[in-house]
Amino acid sequence: MKNNPLPRLDSDQDVREKLLPQCRLAPGEVWQDPEGRHRVGCLDAACGEHIAELMGTHRARLAVHDPPYNLVVFEERKVHEFIAWSKQWVALTGEYLAADASLYIWLGADQNEHFQPLPDFMVMMREFQEFQSRSFVTLRNQRGYGTQKNWMAVRQELLYYTKGHPAFEVQYTDIPKILRGYYKEVNGQRTENTERGKSENIRASNVWVDIQQVFYRMAENVSGCYAQKPLKAIERIIAASSSPNELVLDFFAHSGTTLIACEQLGRSCFTIDIDPIFCEITIRRLEHLRKTGQTGWQNSQPFE
Ligand SMILES: C[S@@+](CC[C@H](N)C(=O)[O-])C[C@H]1O[C@@H](n2cnc3c(N)ncnc32)[C@H](O)[C@@H]1O
Repeated sequence: MKNNPLPRLDSDQDVREKLLPQCRLAPGEVWQDPEGRHRVGCLDAACGEHIAELMGTHRARLAVHDPPYNLVVFEERKVHEFIAWSKQWVALTGEYLAADASLYIWLGADQNEHFQPLPDFMVMMREFQEFQSRSFVTLRNQRGYGTQKNWMAVRQELLYYTKGHPAFEVQYTDIPKILRGYYKEVNGQRTENTERGKSENIRASNVWVDIQQVFYRMAENVSGCYAQKPLKAIERIIAASSSPNELVLDFFAHSGTTLIACEQLGRSCFTIDIDPIFCEITIRRLEHLRKTGQTGWQNSQPFE
C-alpha cells in the first residue's frame, strides 16, 4: 500500500480545489447505487426539501447521525445556534423514520466550555415527544489528550432514542467471559455467570471498551477524513436496531462509515453530506469495497 495520505479535507483549500472537479455530485444532487441498494446525496441535513428529495416515500428503521460537534476543531457556532440547527435535522429525522424506529446520535462535550453542546442537546431532545431516551453510551478511545493537567480525555458519547417500539437485538463483544466468582441463585440452584448467559462472550453494555479508534495503520482508514467512526461501532448499532434489507439513514456521511456497514450487513443506506468531496469519498469507498473487499485505503487514499 502506498504511503500517500490526504490532509484534512475540510480545511486545506489547495487540495479541495484539486479534488472538487473529480466529484460527481454537485450540491442538490443524489447518487443512486446502480445495484439499487443505497443513495448518497449532496444535501443539507437541515433542509426539508432536500430530505424529501432523498427519501421520497421511503421510511427508515434506524438513523445514525454524527453531526459536527461544535467543538473547536469544527466550525464553531454559538451553542444556541447549534441547538436550533440540530432541532431542524432531528425533526426531519422523526418525519422520515418508520413508526417503530431507533435514533442514535454521536455528540461531543467540550470539557473546557461547560461540556457544550451535549447537555444542551439532551435538554432540547425533551421537546420531541415522539422520541424516548433509551441509553447513553460511551465509547472509549485508546488514545486521548490532555494528560498533564487533567484526566486523559478518551470518551466519545452516543445517545440512543427510540420512536414507537422498535426491536432491539442484544449484541456481544469479542471479550470472553473469563471472570469467575460471580454467582446467583436460579431456581434454587447456585449458578455461575457463564452458565446463565447465551454466549461465551460478554454482552455489549453502554460502555464500549472493545473498539479500536481508526488510525492510519487500519485497513478501514480513509485519509483526509478527520472524524471517521470505527466500522465496528456502527455495525454494532445496525445489528442491534435493524434487520436485513431495512433502511438506515445517516445525515452526516463524511467517510461513509454507515453506508459501508450497511453494505456489509445487508441493509440499505440513504446518506448525505453537505460537502461534495465527502459525498465522492463515500461513493468511492463503496465502489472500492465492492471491487476489492477493502473497507478503506489504509495510508493510501480515495483519489489516487
Ligand atoms: C463528524 S463528521 C461524520 C463522520 C462519519 N460518521 C464517519 O464515520 O465518517 C460530520 C460531517 O457532517 C457534514 N455536515 C456538516 N454540516 C452538514 C449539513 N448541514 N448537512 C449535511 N452534512 C453536513 C460535514 O461535511 C462532515 O463530513
